Amino acid sequence: MKYLLFFISTLCLCSGHHTIPLLRFSVFLDPRHEIYLRWDHDDEDAMMTFELQAPSTGWVAFGFTHNKKITGADFVIGGVLPDGNIYFSDWHGVNEETILEDESQDYELLSLTQDATSTTMAFQRYFRTCDQNDLDITGDTLRVLAAYGTNDTIDFFKGRIVHKSLFLMLQSTEEELQPPSVYHVYDLKLNDFPVPVDDTTYACTFIPLPIVKTKHHIYKFEPQITPRNITLVHHILVYACGNASALPSGVSDCYGADPAFALCSQVVVGWAVGGGSYMFPNETGISIGTPLDPQWIRLEVHFSNFDLIPGLIDNSGLRLYYTPELRPHDMGILQTGVFIFPIHFIPPGTDSFMSYGVCNTSHFEEINGAPVPDMHVFGYLLHTHLAGRGLRGVLYRNGQQVTILCEDNKYDFNLQEARNLKETVVMKPGDEFLLECRYQTLDRTELTFGGPSTLNEMCLAFLFYYPRNNISSCMGYPDIQHVANELGQEASDAVEGMMAINLVEWDNDTIKKAEKTCKEVDQIVIIKTIDEVVRNDTGFIRDIIDSEPLPCKDISHPLAKRQAKYLTTPLLTSEAMGTKDIFPLHVLRVILLGFTWLLCISQGGL
Ligand SMILES: *[C@@H]1O[C@H](CO)[C@@H](O)[C@H](O)[C@H]1NC(C)=O
Ligand SMILES: *[C@@H]1O[C@H](CO)[C@@H](O)[C@H](O)[C@H]1NC(C)=O
Ligand SMILES: *[C@@H]1O[C@H](CO)[C@@H](O)[C@H](O)[C@H]1NC(C)=O
Ligand SMILES: *[C@@H]1O[C@H](CO)[C@@H](O)[C@H](O)[C@H]1NC(C)=O
Ligand SMILES: *[C@@H]1O[C@H](CO)[C@@H](O)[C@H](O)[C@H]1NC(C)=O
Ligand SMILES: *[C@@H]1O[C@H](CO)[C@@H](O)[C@H](O)[C@H]1NC(C)=O
Ligand SMILES: *[C@@H]1O[C@H](CO)[C@@H](O)[C@H](O)[C@H]1NC(C)=O
Ligand SMILES: *[C@@H]1O[C@H](CO)[C@@H](O)[C@H](O)[C@H]1NC(C)=O
Repeated sequence: MKYLLFFISTLCLCSGHHTIPLLRFSVFLDPRHEIYLRWDHDDEDAMMTFELQAPSTGWVAFGFTHNKKITGADFVIGGVLPDGNIYFSDWHGVNEETILEDESQDYELLSLTQDATSTTMAFQRYFRTCDQNDLDITGDTLRVLAAYGTNDTIDFFKGRIVHKSLFLMLQSTEEELQPPSVYHVYDLKLNDFPVPVDDTTYACTFIPLPIVKTKHHIYKFEPQITPRNITLVHHILVYACGNASALPSGVSDCYGADPAFALCSQVVVGWAVGGGSYMFPNETGISIGTPLDPQWIRLEVHFSNFDLIPGLIDNSGLRLYYTPELRPHDMGILQTGVFIFPIHFIPPGTDSFMSYGVCNTSHFEEINGAPVPDMHVFGYLLHTHLAGRGLRGVLYRNGQQVTILCEDNKYDFNLQEARNLKETVVMKPGDEFLLECRYQTLDRTELTFGGPSTLNEMCLAFLFYYPRNNISSCMGYPDIQHVANELGQEASDAVEGMMAINLVEWDNDTIKKAEKTCKEVDQIVIIKTIDEVVRNDTGFIRDIIDSEPLPCKDISHPLAKRQAKYLTTPLLTSEAMGTKDIFPLHVLRVILLGFTWLLCISQGGL
């Protein structure tokens, strides 16, 4: 009876969906470019559709993990048997050695095909299923997993498994935007840089922007990575410089002995392994060629030479595209968050510590030099260093929370990229913007302070908006003297307060107290213009109302009574397939499914 039901529901699925929706987004999941994922989201239906192509004629798998762990992972495994029948089902990781088929099957197969060398599997599921063995698909940076074996014996742990951080809620592809008919390209690249024999290198260099006689708009950035058979370039950031006269020449460690190589902190664009190009929305571009515009950038290339290979020469960077066909608005970038200064501190040994920085736009007009038009925020880039685990940026108007403008609760330092909002959000003069950053320092024994080095921390959100004004940054920090006093230290001014934080003995109680106090004391809000005019005010931190999680949607098929458990002993051996009496039930189900699929194909007229 169960099988009959299953048969029918699968049939329904097929007749409804015998064509896969257009999948706009795609990425290779591995450095060798062999595992290819295409996907798209239907926000109205809260439905995600995937198509995985893997270089195997055996089983293939795709799903989500908690930080690359198999324990708690949620994935599907499918494949085409040598006789053309197919199998497909929803699994989860029980521990690092065991996976189990879910009781509740929440992924729907759309198609499963195989050619001489690869298998392609298309399927869909809701963002939130009602199964505790599935992970939610959100606008956070997700950790995805893909795996495959050489044959149809699902011996998961013997397969090739790859992991990748991915942001799935992309908004538009380049094809959907409007490219200009006339454009020029210009490369921001390293020039024969000898990559040090070192795990991690941050190479920085200052490069002039193109010199143009008339105003142009930069509308696109595209990665230019020196091709290699290993992943060497981990990520690239481009920062705009306000003032070129103080910039050093050559290439050097961004956060090393010479602090000048950390100048220019306004991130314009970021690229990370696996990322593609980034194009600004139709309405806007970065202005170059007028006296108000930046003339130089800092290029920061992060190399990971984990195999310590000597003699590597690199020419990676980003190519920018610019056009004389002006878009309606010049874009601006507003740097928000916690003021980058050692007043920002994070205690050691904590699983979660929140920092807050507020921006109050009430006084923008006084230093802007002209009225400040409404800021149409269309995108953002979130930035912390290695201890950062999550960020939330919240917009308030008249003391009321308007929206959580941007958030990533699973931030990955190695996937910093500009992300577009689904719809532009208007920030009016007088609005407040609060940034909350969550850190984890379980691996640290010393305090972490705010600062430019990767060992220091930051808590920043760069808001991309139009039309631009003269304000470049608006950041807050807590009244450190009061924080120190609350933690039982003597301090009669901010400098003493900063020193006194070093004397606090950190345990879970003092950590919680520090977090609470930093949130409750007054904030000092520093606003700067592109000409380095500074103004400071006091402010305070408002509470954040969490966003409601989406309701879950239950479309699951119950799994047949028999549970299949794979340790190291495969169930689907070729012998089993030939022997009726030890034929596992779920294989039968799989073959039924294959049958319906074949039916669908003929119905679909393919
Ligand atoms: C399937 O592949 C696994 C290793 O990937 C191997 O141990 C096993 O013998 C293979 N099974 C068959 C039937 O070829
Ligand atoms: C950009 O412009 C093109 C052509 O005018 C239009 O088709 C497209 O919808 C626009 N895209 C956005 C995101 O506004
Ligand atoms: C990459 O290519 C180099 C030669 O360019 C070769 O020595 C090395 O073995 C290759 N590495 C891999 C992982 O294929
Ligand atoms: C730019 O740098 C020069 C040289 O360091 C300095 O004299 C000038 O004041 C700076 N201008 C601004 C606006 O910071
Ligand atoms: C920037 O400031 C100048 C005065 O210093 C003012 O004339 C100009 O209008 C301002 N620009 C914008 C976009 O607000
Ligand atoms: C806080 O408690 C956790 C366990 O609950 C422990 O692992 C951690 O070391 C403690 N941190 C400090 C600073 O004592
Ligand atoms: C903020 O303003 C106060 C007084 O107006 C001044 O003492 C303090 O140094 C300023 N802080 C910063 C960081 O500019
Ligand atoms: C922002 O500034 C306005 C005007 O000075 C003030 O009334 C408001 O309390 C400030 N908001 C915050 C969060 O500091």
